This record gives sequence, structure tokens and C-alpha cells, in this order.
Amino acid sequence: MENKKVKVEVCHGASCFVAGSKIMQELSEIVPKKYGNKIELETCNCLGLCSIHWEKRKAPYVKVDADVINEATTEKVLNIIDEKLTAKAT
Ligand code: FES
Repeated sequence: MENKKVKVEVCHGASCFVAGSKIMQELSEIVPKKYGNKIELETCNCLGLCSIHWEKRKAPYVKVDADVINEATTEKVLNIIDEKLTAKAT
């Protein structure tokens, strides 16, 4: 059976934490109220993307299912969650 939940992993490595520490806090407050149990929200270790050349680095990173969002904001993550849930519902 296909997993209908959307998995959201907020990178909690040092670079991402420094760049976007409030994202996890905001998502923790918004996601359960807005989506109930349709989302698996967790932190993850460094995704390894912060080690590329500093000019190309786009922390913070958040992974939503297989997609990586760079320069993540709470709004960007919520938009991707909406898209994923719509796609899984069809
Ligand atoms: S700290 Fe997030 S990708 Fe390395």
C-alpha cells in the first residue's frame, strides 16, 4: 500500500540550524493543526549539502519526501506539503 503521509525532514546540522533554527519550531506548531496526522515531521542529521562551496550553499535545507528545498522557509515548506498532499490524493 502506498504511503499517503508526507515525510518532512528538517536538517538539524550546524549550518542549517544557524540559518533556520525557527523553521522546526514554526512547523511543529503549524503542521499538526493544519494537517493532522498526514505529515511525518522530524529533524535529521546534516544532509551533506552544506559542505559544497560557500557561494553555492543555500542553507537551511529541508527534505520533503524525495525533494530537497534549499533556502527553506516555513512558507516554502508548507507550499510543498500542500503540493505533495494534493498529488497523493489523486
Ligand atoms: S547542516 Fe544541513 S545540510 Fe549540512
